[in-house]
Amino acid sequence: MMGAYREAYEASIREPESFWREAAKAIDWETYPSRILDDSQAPLYRWFPDARLNTCVNAVDRHVRDGRGDQPAIIYDSPLTETQQTITYAELLDHVARFAGVLTDLGVRHGDRVVIYMPMIPQTVVAMLASARIGAVHSVVFGGFAPAELSARIDDAKPRVILTASCGIEPARIIEYKPLVDAAIEMSEHAPQAVVVFQRPQVTAELGARDVDWNDAVSSAVPADPVSVAATDPLYILYTSGTTGRPKGIVRDNGGHAVAMAWSFRHVYGMNPGDVWWSASDVGWVVGHSYIVYAPLISGATTVLYEGKPVGTPDAGAFWRLIEQHRVRAVFTAPTAIRAIKKEDPNAEHLVKYDVGSLETFFFAGERLDPDTFEWASGHLHVPIIDNWWQTETGWPIAANLRGLEPLPIKSGSPSFPVPGYDVQILDPASQDVPVGGEGDIAIKLPLPPGTLPTLWGDDDRYVASYLSDHPGYYTSGDGGFFDEDGYLYVMGRTDDVINVAGHRLSTGSMEAVVAAHPAVAECAVIGVHDDLKGQIPRAFVVLKAGEDPDPDELQARIVQSVREEIGPVAAFKEVVIVPALPKTRSGKILRRTMRGIAAGRDEPVPSTIEDPAVLDALVDVLRQKT
Ligand code: COA
Ligand code: AMP
Repeated sequence: MMGAYREAYEASIREPESFWREAAKAIDWETYPSRILDDSQAPLYRWFPDARLNTCVNAVDRHVRDGRGDQPAIIYDSPLTETQQTITYAELLDHVARFAGVLTDLGVRHGDRVVIYMPMIPQTVVAMLASARIGAVHSVVFGGFAPAELSARIDDAKPRVILTASCGIEPARIIEYKPLVDAAIEMSEHAPQAVVVFQRPQVTAELGARDVDWNDAVSSAVPADPVSVAATDPLYILYTSGTTGRPKGIVRDNGGHAVAMAWSFRHVYGMNPGDVWWSASDVGWVVGHSYIVYAPLISGATTVLYEGKPVGTPDAGAFWRLIEQHRVRAVFTAPTAIRAIKKEDPNAEHLVKYDVGSLETFFFAGERLDPDTFEWASGHLHVPIIDNWWQTETGWPIAANLRGLEPLPIKSGSPSFPVPGYDVQILDPASQDVPVGGEGDIAIKLPLPPGTLPTLWGDDDRYVASYLSDHPGYYTSGDGGFFDEDGYLYVMGRTDDVINVAGHRLSTGSMEAVVAAHPAVAECAVIGVHDDLKGQIPRAFVVLKAGEDPDPDELQARIVQSVREEIGPVAAFKEVVIVPALPKTRSGKILRRTMRGIAAGRDEPVPSTIEDPAVLDALVDVLRQKT
């Protein structure tokens, strides 16, 4: 007999329209979808083309209307500021409607963009929902990015307003955001009309002519009603790193996204209305958008908003304290968080101090779940440890073990099976046949399911060129992998120049641009090398210009500083190695893939174009060094 997973999966591939028509019932629509999929512009597809709704109504208003007004919507827990605050759905509605009034007063209208550069505080969630309420398009930028990165996003999204706070807080320092925002605007061609600043007690930002004090604006605002938007209207843009330095503006629509959030929260994560759910990530990343904000709120659950780190705030018991205190039913984080805890507390001595009996499942995503982390978490937490694989582009899992549909046996190293809606196939990069079980590009047959990117912001051509051209009729994920004999998917890592540092996705191309700008550098390559804590860290290999002989430590310090200033501290860029030459093809292209392969310990063919074997040996030695 076919299990529930297989049945749902096959139905979703065989009859996607019926499948998603049924799933759409979980959403409150203003105009119910009569058409499900518009394929008239293939390979660009649109879900629910004639439907109308408001995402904020689905995430907030309807729960108050349906009697959940007194239920906590958000539990804000910030050991960094020693603050805790519970916000009910009724209170959230009040905050969001008022802040939507602020945006309206500032002239923000349906379709206008709102950039949000804010830390992990409830006001950030309020800002996102308020933008959705009036049909605007938010673009949240992670606080660890430097002004130049923020500026690139401002120029691409052209926001009418920017929302920020006076500071973000890291354990070792306070980061004043306002000067960063000012610097970013200074660098940008596009000038936003206003910057709204939430003043935190730790820092009071100086306000200039363009700036608006958040609380002042709220106190004079009239709550705004939700507007009805087309299901295909954009809800947000989230920029992510691609192969080149120019970030890609991933577009998320309103209708498909709402359906996918509700469906995945229930079926992938097995969560119900009223459950307490904690996604330990940051709202600046896709995990934060989908599983701190939209999925739990659209589903009427309680979401924990954590402003802290896995260790050091105050100790390696931070996660376990939160689970006990808020009676968390499921946690979702990146493996690097557990590696940080394990490093500090290898025997989980902090864990036994807490009652984590409410915990039923522990989910991981954002990077490969390495076997050590899997074993440690399984051995100490005694709950299912569930890996899921996805990307900013898809917004929700492509491969998972579906806890709410049919929990299946778990295999370490695999995120299990393709999720309903995703026709995942392994394709050969050179269009040859891939033998069963063979490794290749992980591709998804079009159309992608609801909630995934319909395009890149303002750039259909780049969307098609970046994702849909390698294998016509398919979306190319950028990851390589294979299926085993039982149909489990294994994700082996990126096939392009994207790296994953502590669960944060970064482009080595953008780092190379900064490194190459140093006057002593003739050429360079930045590749990801293994790191026990962060999974990968970037390392730059530079060849100096003839006649240059800088002090290596000084050179490294200057380049590291430039990367922090141009990209941001989140790049975790710390190492520059001077090498006599880089491996190249005959036409002079640097063999980054070969270098990555050597660094990963794989048997890559040895590049032949470095003539001097001693030079090659030296490079291989450097690449093989583990950090
Ligand atoms: N604003 C400003 N700076 C930030 C920042 C933010 N929001 N987030 C991180 N940074 C800074 C850090 O302070 C650090 O700066 P430093 O070089 O001066 O020390 C740098 O960016 C690198 O940050 P990170 O890679 O996060 O390293 P870390 O040592 O501070 O913490 C972990 C490491 C593993 C504990 C942390 O990355 C973590 O908790 N990750 C798991 C959860 C997660 O966020 N996953 C993301 C997607 S699911
Ligand atoms: P992001 O867009 O930031 O979510 O990063 C997506 C990338 O992270 C993917 O393309 C993968 O390379 C990697 N990734 C995310 N989740 C997993 C996972 N569970 N296993 C392996 N790699 C993952």
